[in-house]
Amino acid sequence: MSKFMDWVDARFPATKMWEDHLSKYYAPKNFNFFYFFGSLALLVLVNQIVTGVWLTMSYTPSAEEAFASVEYIMRDVEYGSILRLLHSTGASAFFIVVYLHMFRGLLYGSYQKPRELVWVFGMLIYLALMAEAFMGYLLPWGQMSYWGAQVIISLFGAIPVIGNDLTQWIRGDYLISGITLNRFFALHVVALPIVILGLVVLHVLALHEVGSNNPDGVDIKKHKDENGVPLDGIAFHPYYTVKDIVGVVVFLFIFCSIVFFFPEMGGYFLEKPNFEQANPFKTPEHIAPVWYFTPFYAILRAVPDKLLGVIAMGAAIAVLFVLPWLDRSPVKSMRYKGWLSKIWLVMFCISFVILGVLGVLAPTPGRTLLSQVCTFLYFAYFILMPFYTRLEKTKPVPERVTG
Ligand code: HEM
Repeated sequence: MSKFMDWVDARFPATKMWEDHLSKYYAPKNFNFFYFFGSLALLVLVNQIVTGVWLTMSYTPSAEEAFASVEYIMRDVEYGSILRLLHSTGASAFFIVVYLHMFRGLLYGSYQKPRELVWVFGMLIYLALMAEAFMGYLLPWGQMSYWGAQVIISLFGAIPVIGNDLTQWIRGDYLISGITLNRFFALHVVALPIVILGLVVLHVLALHEVGSNNPDGVDIKKHKDENGVPLDGIAFHPYYTVKDIVGVVVFLFIFCSIVFFFPEMGGYFLEKPNFEQANPFKTPEHIAPVWYFTPFYAILRAVPDKLLGVIAMGAAIAVLFVLPWLDRSPVKSMRYKGWLSKIWLVMFCISFVILGVLGVLAPTPGRTLLSQVCTFLYFAYFILMPFYTRLEKTKPVPERVTG
């Protein structure tokens, strides 16, 4: 075996990569619950790719046959229903995991110097993931697939001058048709997965270049032993690989319970109108995007003007990209930041959740007002960040991690 590895290593840096990224990658020893979600995101990504490949074997991407082919998968293909539900539940699980993963970043200032690129690559993954989920949702060719896509694509029509041409260009037709379905299929199964995989590699490479942050936001590289190993660091393998397996087991238990017993999740993971085939002549009574898009949908609806609404929705995502440059705090972790940062993070999270709930519900004057207040708080968290992070009094950061 060792001779074989010598042979490989002379031609390919297998052992070097194993050591650099696993057995000699020293991660802080104080990772907590929130650090499970990076490896879980990887797990869900693999689940989506594997189940996606097998679904593609029996799915037909045409307006005439798509809906029936999904029914065929659910009823006639062996293990088809499990494959499909693993994939549809996986989409929601992906966003739950990624939202918690991003929240960890906010909590511990993981986006701060020197991890700005880790965050930016993460945000690019998030964008690609949203595009991937949006396009995947058209494929079953149900009522909500059709009308959800109709609402979102028509938003581009609000852009002055080029709006109409742009929507036509995206659809490839004057209305959403089999042509749209075909191109979304190509993007969903080929183009975007490649982009996402590439970005994940860049994300992890950028992280391993600078090393992981931790709940204390302390730089573990400042204190090393005589071999250059950080005193507060432990080898990723075997310590965190084994720890992450615990997270994987708990996650799979919850995930499989949902897949087997509540795959529709009360209409949130699989929306009820999508059990009916797409009908361009029949608009569903209430069109709402899937839950993971609803905070941004609520921001769109909070603004009375369509174009400004589209701009606000875009800005709500764009502002996350510049987060590393908005936080001027001398400390990273919320543990040592002042109370202003803490209050704003809580306000931000509450607003985001309320916006998510409002985005599912039909608008009423009261709900619109509430969504306007929450939109205001959402943006205020970011816009005021350079000020409150500089003004507030921070606590002294310990030299070493606190355990
Ligand atoms: C497919 C989606 C993603 C995958 C597979 C992924 C994977 C990972 C992995 C394996 C880690 C190291 C383990 C950990 O710290 O939990 C990590 C760290 C990190 N990720 Fe992601 N990630 C994804 C999406 C995102 C997104 C959307 C963001 C934010 C916009 C993000 C921001 C970060 C940050 C800031 C770190 C460093 C955390 C620290 O050192 O404290 N990631 N990611």
